[in-house]
Amino acid sequence: MEWNGVLDHYFNYLPVKERKNIVSLSEGNSPLIRARNIEETLNDDLKVYLKYEGANPTGSFKDRGMTVAVSKAVEKGEKAVICASTGNTSASAAAFAAKSGLEAIVVIPEGKIAFGKLSQAMMHGAKVVQIKGNFDEALEMVLEISDDYPVTLVNSLNPNRIEGQKTASFEISDFLGRAPDYHLLPVGNAGNITAYWKGYKEYYDSGKTGRLPKMTGFQAAGSSPIVDGKKVENPETVATAIRIGNPASWEKAERARDESGGMIGKVTDDELVNAYRTLAASEGVFCEPASAASVAGLFKMDGTDYFDQGSVITCTLTGHGLKDPDVAIESSEQPKTVGKSVSEVLEVAGL
Ligand code: F0G
Repeated sequence: MEWNGVLDHYFNYLPVKERKNIVSLSEGNSPLIRARNIEETLNDDLKVYLKYEGANPTGSFKDRGMTVAVSKAVEKGEKAVICASTGNTSASAAAFAAKSGLEAIVVIPEGKIAFGKLSQAMMHGAKVVQIKGNFDEALEMVLEISDDYPVTLVNSLNPNRIEGQKTASFEISDFLGRAPDYHLLPVGNAGNITAYWKGYKEYYDSGKTGRLPKMTGFQAAGSSPIVDGKKVENPETVATAIRIGNPASWEKAERARDESGGMIGKVTDDELVNAYRTLAASEGVFCEPASAASVAGLFKMDGTDYFDQGSVITCTLTGHGLKDPDVAIESSEQPKTVGKSVSEVLEVAGL
């Protein structure tokens, strides 16, 4: 099958008017990987699939939304885009802006975005502004700026972002030939859970699927405003991508949870890192720490009576592991250095 990105493939479901305005990096069509090794370790009888969004061109799910947001900006004759970001949105905005010829301005919390993501924004030629504040404060700033100046906001408050991101639900349903029974994913600013739910509902309403999944989101325990029912002033977690204390789509996430009969829970950093390492070591899938919230949540709910036996579960892995090599290296056994003799190498290799 020829693949030219989510706008080309799902054009009739998306808001861009003319195909000539599409700005695409051939995003989407990401792998849906059966996680048989993980399935075997579970108490519940479940079929588990990983939607590996790290395979997108900039290494995260943000590309699905950004192709629509930037194409619409081009269609409207805009000149610049702006976003606040924990890293992935800025990387994606910078790349799509580079492709389209628009200018990108990205506002990020200093020292709190993974290095791979920072390098992307810089390489794609965005104007990178670091603030001595967190993501929530950066988002307030870009909202104010985009109100007052001729720059288009490309955070997920821009509905075009949600439109694009809903295509992940379409792909999953198309690949499986049905919607899953449960969909698990990390929750940060809460745009993605909103988008997935919208996508599943649209496919259901158009008769493409005959069921709706229970939307099951997970926040990091140090950044869990939705679970705790209150804003977090100083969110903390190893998963910097979801270090968010006041999600923009808070109510929409609650609606997705409640309409679908699902839940939003929290996982500790230890649980996150355990799932992150298990995915890499037993399934061969390297995602970034925040992404592993979905599978950490699967482990947490396994053996409670949350899942019906025999269910089909999809877990979104939102970003690529190479985005944040620091956490990977810090949480791993360090490599041993030896001299130049074969015998020393053999000893370390255990041969
Ligand atoms: N996973 C990753 C890897 C992310 O980068 C994000 C959000 C999420 C999960 C949460 O998705 O916000 O839609 O609930 N990253 C944003 C950013 C905030 O700026 O890159 P959400």
